[in-house]
Amino acid sequence: MTKLINPPSWLDAALEFCIAKTRLNLATLNGFPERTEGGKWVQMDPDLHGWWVGGHWVGLIWLAYAATRDPLLIAAARDWGNRLLPRQPDQDDHDLGFLFELGFVLGYQMTGDETLKLPALQAAATLSQRFNPRGKFIQAWGLLDASPELRGRTIMDTMMNLDLLFWAGKETGDPRYTEIAAAHARTTLTHHLRPDGSTSHACDFNPDTGAFIKQDTHQGLSSTSCWSRGQAWGVYGFADCYHATGDSVFLDTSRRLAEYLWPRLPVDLIPFWDFDSPLIPNDVRDSSAASVLASGLLNLASVENDSKLARLWQSRAINILESLWLNYTSRDTGEASLLLHGTRSKPHNLMDHGLIYGDYYFVEALMRLSKPELTIS
Ligand code: GLY
Repeated sequence: MTKLINPPSWLDAALEFCIAKTRLNLATLNGFPERTEGGKWVQMDPDLHGWWVGGHWVGLIWLAYAATRDPLLIAAARDWGNRLLPRQPDQDDHDLGFLFELGFVLGYQMTGDETLKLPALQAAATLSQRFNPRGKFIQAWGLLDASPELRGRTIMDTMMNLDLLFWAGKETGDPRYTEIAAAHARTTLTHHLRPDGSTSHACDFNPDTGAFIKQDTHQGLSSTSCWSRGQAWGVYGFADCYHATGDSVFLDTSRRLAEYLWPRLPVDLIPFWDFDSPLIPNDVRDSSAASVLASGLLNLASVENDSKLARLWQSRAINILESLWLNYTSRDTGEASLLLHGTRSKPHNLMDHGLIYGDYYFVEALMRLSKPELTIS
């Protein structure tokens, strides 16, 4: 990453707050946290084995370990990570990247413990089975013999699950992992990306011929709108793709997505849940979109080949993080999440709460600033 000349003055205080609250949550949680209600974590049913967010909780513990080097946190991360193990062969959704990159690869990179590699490799093998060679995309949801609607659906979020495949490609030497991930990313940029640099949350394809049908949404306002967290997933994920492949089309795409959203952020830089909501400025924000974006911009800065642009992405990320720290953390409220005012999904009436992934990417971004030598891809 381009050297950070002056780390922000509030960085250490922000990290200290996050680590202390993570320790508190560790002492009280029995199940994986997902979102808060009434200031307390909603803990997931153990049968879900972390659903799509268990990796964010384990990853948060790994980051706390990286910040403190407290060996008790290694034990805690391993213990919670073990609860994700039943998901290795899960053929029901694409989120094995979130689960096993953050739950295992991150821990492997921080500790060098080889035993953390095997579950992540197994999960990558399972994820690769979701690739549809006709449409050149990774099926988002449902079993591999699900309805045509499910078999033909792609979402922006999958951009975040590709890095597990790139990692597995390097570890195993099997080129298929990289080919699948890069092919999915090209399909995403061809069909989700619009000429103005915005993205649709979802796309539908004919799963048997691979033909593109239409843009659509699941958590956004409409098929023609731009869902803010999806756009942030794209900034982050396309930067990963450039890092893994060196193909400049992915660098350009990450930049384009970042340039689209910047002028559409409100004064405090925390996006509304969908950039096209007609209710703006009287609509809910999504602090998780802001933290994903901040970490995504720092990820983009770390691979950027234009040093002026790298500094721009870095300074934009710092400005977002400062706004989150000053106005969106729970430091004056005692609520269990680090960040307030996230929106899981307004169309599903889930908004204005803490979200474990918002918390994870907030701390990940702070750690990118505090310890740039850490490999967080
Ligand atoms: N991956 C689901 C979400 O972003 O809400």
